[in-house]
Amino acid sequence: MTKSAVDRYNMVAIILHWAMAFAIIGLWGVGHVIDLIPKGPGRTEVVMLHKAVGVIVLVLAVARLVWRLTRPRPSLPVTMPPFEQWLAHAGHAALYVLMLLIPIDGVLMSQSGGRPVSVFGLVLPVFVAKNEALRDIFKAGHEVLGWVLAVVLAGHVIAALRHHFVLKDDILRRMLPSRR
Ligand code: HEM
Ligand code: HEM
Repeated sequence: MTKSAVDRYNMVAIILHWAMAFAIIGLWGVGHVIDLIPKGPGRTEVVMLHKAVGVIVLVLAVARLVWRLTRPRPSLPVTMPPFEQWLAHAGHAALYVLMLLIPIDGVLMSQSGGRPVSVFGLVLPVFVAKNEALRDIFKAGHEVLGWVLAVVLAGHVIAALRHHFVLKDDILRRMLPSRR
């Protein structure tokens, strides 16, 4: 592996990062819109789409974590203060945990509410039986974890923009497709 090969994220990591960022931000927005839609076929369609895309995000998050743990990745600039390096790593770790926990919680919320989860026709095995008390816990968890995600993501985006526009380093560019 040449040095330049790990100076930036590779194409798989870049495509996964941006496709999942787009999907997760969309899921977050649609999740909040669900409550505003009156009960009926329209709402059911939106909820089913939210669930299917959410399960796909879960599968991609597992694949991405495996990719992340088994591949070389670019290190942070040595000029970055140790506390900021720690914060960046903690933020990325938190994003991985949330990308896994939120959809897992979603599946358990639906199933404990007595509703099966299907991904465009493929029905998932049932992990929890119907239980209203559990459903309330998973529902609260889905909402709280969603807000934790919003806060961590805001910090993540602000950090990326600070690196690009204030510190003027390569951090954002190396997560973008190379023009070379
Ligand atoms: C829900 C949305 C997002 C999630 C879950 C997410 C998650 C992550 C994770 C886990 C990493 C670490 C990559 C790794 O080493 O495996 C990362 C890197 C990065 N993200 Fe995001 N991200 C999101 C949205 C964004 C947005 C909107 C921006 C831009 C403003 C952004 C900019 C970056 C950059 C520049 C890096 C590379 C950092 C480095 O070089 O060390 N991300 N992201
Ligand atoms: C990364 C993936 C996901 C994100 C970011 C996400 C985010 C959200 C958010 C922010 C809400 C609104 C919370 C509220 O205010 O009550 C929501 C609602 C909901 N989510 Fe997700 N979700 C994801 C995956 C899933 C999955 C995989 C399922 C089920 C298989 C699911 C099922 C639901 C349901 C049923 C609601 C409506 C809850 C209600 O109001 O009764 N979500 N989601």
